[in-house]
Amino acid sequence: MSAASPTAVQGAASPTGAAGTKQGLKLVLKVWRQGARGAPGQFETHELQNVSTDMSFLEMLDVLNEGLIREGKDPVAFEHDCREGICGSCGFVINGQAHGPQKETTVCQLHMRSFRSGETLVIEPFRATAFPILKDLVVDRSAFDRIVAAGGYVSVNTGSAPDANAILIPKDNAERAFDAAACIGCGACVAACPNGSAMLFVGAKVSHLAALPQGQSERDHRALDMVAAMDKEGFGDCSNHLECVASCPKGIAGTNIAQLNREFAKASLRSGSR
Ligand code: SF4
Ligand code: FES
Repeated sequence: MSAASPTAVQGAASPTGAAGTKQGLKLVLKVWRQGARGAPGQFETHELQNVSTDMSFLEMLDVLNEGLIREGKDPVAFEHDCREGICGSCGFVINGQAHGPQKETTVCQLHMRSFRSGETLVIEPFRATAFPILKDLVVDRSAFDRIVAAGGYVSVNTGSAPDANAILIPKDNAERAFDAAACIGCGACVAACPNGSAMLFVGAKVSHLAALPQGQSERDHRALDMVAAMDKEGFGDCSNHLECVASCPKGIAGTNIAQLNREFAKASLRSGSR
């Protein structure tokens, strides 16, 4: 891929209110444009005027795209679904930071009040070997799906609904499981890691079920198979930079990586296979 010089300057007004209301932000956007997987890409420059500080980052991109469409140009492709920080669909890099500058915030929940008027924002896709770019800001994160599928199922009786609290779980375990389950699979941890490692994501998934009684039957297989799938997908090794933790919008703790290492080591010893 090549990074070319700015190609276009587009004025796109975002009316924030009637005369007399506060003026919005003036921004310069340098957005990565790439037509298809493997195609050369380049940054394209756009100017936006009067961007409301109440907008989310994705709404600001919507405004940009409305302007592009009006001009008969191709809108910037980016992923989103819930726009509530739940689904993990959104995600790209703003000024070198996955999901942008706001701690523990997805780009869909990031508001334009986080930026100053006159700023230049460099917007580019997650860059990792295991996440090939499909178009503009959209990357293929199906490697995560294959890792989760490798983890398999949990053996639960799906007959009638059990009574509440029929399975007693120590509070600490329940909270550890709940914290790990907060991972939305966005991939920011991979994008932020200099090695493109998925250890935080896989650590969260393995730790979540390892802390619960329902996750015990397949505990060893899950750790071995998810790590094998992770390696097969081309994610890098963890070298404890913990950039993943710093960029995670859901506050997934680095202790999940240590838990994954323990789960993998114990499972390897018990299985005798590694
Ligand atoms: S660990 Fe955090 S950054 Fe990584 S996929 Fe899960 S929510 Fe996203
Ligand atoms: S669009 Fe669902 S988390 Fe951002």
